[in-house]
Amino acid sequence: MCGIVGYIGTKKASPILINGLKKLEYRGYDSAGISTIEESEISILKDKGRVKNLENLDGINNLKGTVGIAHTRWATHGKPSKSNSHPHMDNSKSFSVVHNGIIENYKELRDFLQNNNYKFYSDTDTEVIPNLIHYYYNKENNFLKSVNLACNDLKGSYAIEVIFKDMPNNMIVAKKDSPLVIGKSDDETFISSDIPALISFTNTFYFLNDTEIAVISKDDISFYDSNLNKISKDLTTVELSSDSADKDGFEDYMLKEIYEQPKAVRETIGTSLNGTNINFEGLSLSKDYLSTINMIYIVACGTAMHAGLGVKSNFETLCNIPVVVDVASEFRYRKPLINEKTLCIYISQSGETADTIAALKLAKSKGAKTIAITNVIESSITREADYYVYTHAGPEIAVASTKAYTSQIVLLNIMALYFAEILNSSSKDRIENIKKEILKLPEKLEKTLEDVSDIKELAKKIYSKKDMFFLGRGIDYTVALEGSLKLKEITYIHSDAYAAGELKHGPIALIEKGVPVISILTNPTLVEKTISNVQEVITRGATSIIITNQSLDCSNFDNIINIPETSALLSPIVSVVPLQLLAYYVSKEKGLDVDKPRNLAKSVTVE
Ligand code: G6P
Repeated sequence: MCGIVGYIGTKKASPILINGLKKLEYRGYDSAGISTIEESEISILKDKGRVKNLENLDGINNLKGTVGIAHTRWATHGKPSKSNSHPHMDNSKSFSVVHNGIIENYKELRDFLQNNNYKFYSDTDTEVIPNLIHYYYNKENNFLKSVNLACNDLKGSYAIEVIFKDMPNNMIVAKKDSPLVIGKSDDETFISSDIPALISFTNTFYFLNDTEIAVISKDDISFYDSNLNKISKDLTTVELSSDSADKDGFEDYMLKEIYEQPKAVRETIGTSLNGTNINFEGLSLSKDYLSTINMIYIVACGTAMHAGLGVKSNFETLCNIPVVVDVASEFRYRKPLINEKTLCIYISQSGETADTIAALKLAKSKGAKTIAITNVIESSITREADYYVYTHAGPEIAVASTKAYTSQIVLLNIMALYFAEILNSSSKDRIENIKKEILKLPEKLEKTLEDVSDIKELAKKIYSKKDMFFLGRGIDYTVALEGSLKLKEITYIHSDAYAAGELKHGPIALIEKGVPVISILTNPTLVEKTISNVQEVITRGATSIIITNQSLDCSNFDNIINIPETSALLSPIVSVVPLQLLAYYVSKEKGLDVDKPRNLAKSVTVE
């Protein structure tokens, strides 16, 4: 939640900062603000609403400084308003700060500062930071020491950028449990919450570990640990094309990302499944170790959790190990049974989700091995997990996750096969057949995306509905959950997903004339059962919409969307696509902002 950008170099900072903020808006868009420094004078412009409001503010072109910080906010403490927008300053207006994270002990710090005559002008947790820095500066007369002392007092998470009017050529940045990357080119330094926001400026980066601090000037960066011992860091070159963070001719990022799925899945397969050989670089789990595992937890949030549900039974049938899929925010507080015989897999597109990271730390503390599946290079989760494996979906910008989900399911299926090979828990033939099926997936996705006119038409028919239901059995139920989530997220239509057999135990009471019921039918062994449940809603007046890869007698259904057939284990990767597109086109029909739905943020770095 919240995105921060910083610039220090030879050019005017404000356009660069605004460009960066636009790329970080997926992290929150309740308010935006910018602070630059020129001739020892700090200027601040900020307002509630989106970055384009900030861009249109009077005075934005007068910000001439070549050093600046900027912020786009997802409100936690204090409603979206101008006064709660970042940057925040201390009372003497010497220090300007942007912050991503949550200061859990802000009340205590605020009380302390108020007792020392500091005044507060916002409801945010962040405002304690510049004042605390000022408090320590009065004692230490040293910018770096003051920032470090302030950071040592903070409980919670932070990625901060600080500028100081008396040191106009410097910026200090620090982080703990919130992301921050430092991009470097010849005589410029860029700071951001993620790499894609900077990739059009540079592809070489420094990464801070938690509690480290960097002092940045135009030509130099010095790194320190939390005791202010100087440390050295290597620059990492990141292979990411600059157009991967642009819309590339699509109207919205979400549509672009839906259409990128064949490529995302192909690239994800390419890194782990080479013909018939599976290779997970960095994931060295021996047969001895895997044979001791008697339980796998797959833990995640939102769409990533749905990806876990989509592979649960595959892991179980291929590896013969029970799998529990859990929501990270529940897992971390319910004292799960974990020991060294438990393997815990964490899925997170961003690699920054606070609950997922906390759930991982919990399992580690109890002796379990942890594997993180993430899409973001060097994201926080990679530093916490025993092992990490990247999906190769490319940057996902739209808040509603699409290509990350399909890439996660592909990767986890390959991992299940990998474990099964090591454990010898499935027949060679079965494993080889699934590998062949996996290799065909990109083509099947391309085919699914070829002609979407039926889905556009369907969206026109149903966009004004108030409620919708999604049904499925087995693996199709997991896709129903994801389809329902996509619809809710970006269309604001109430929807629910049910296991088709569960319908009669309550939800059928909600079915009345014209309510769209979307059923996913891909598993040949369960199709007939689900059709009976569809029939029950048709009898009660529902509009039936069928997503299937089977040859069905269509005469009874209102709408049928055919998709290519896949092995039942892999079907979510294809069957989710029409649901993503349906949610997208319904949202467009309603005239909504698809990429930035209300109240949501892509990266949820608070619990
Ligand atoms: C937010 C996003 C979802 C995402 C979830 C988990 O709710 O809006 O799209 O699935 O977080 O995010 P992660 O980055 O951990 O996969």
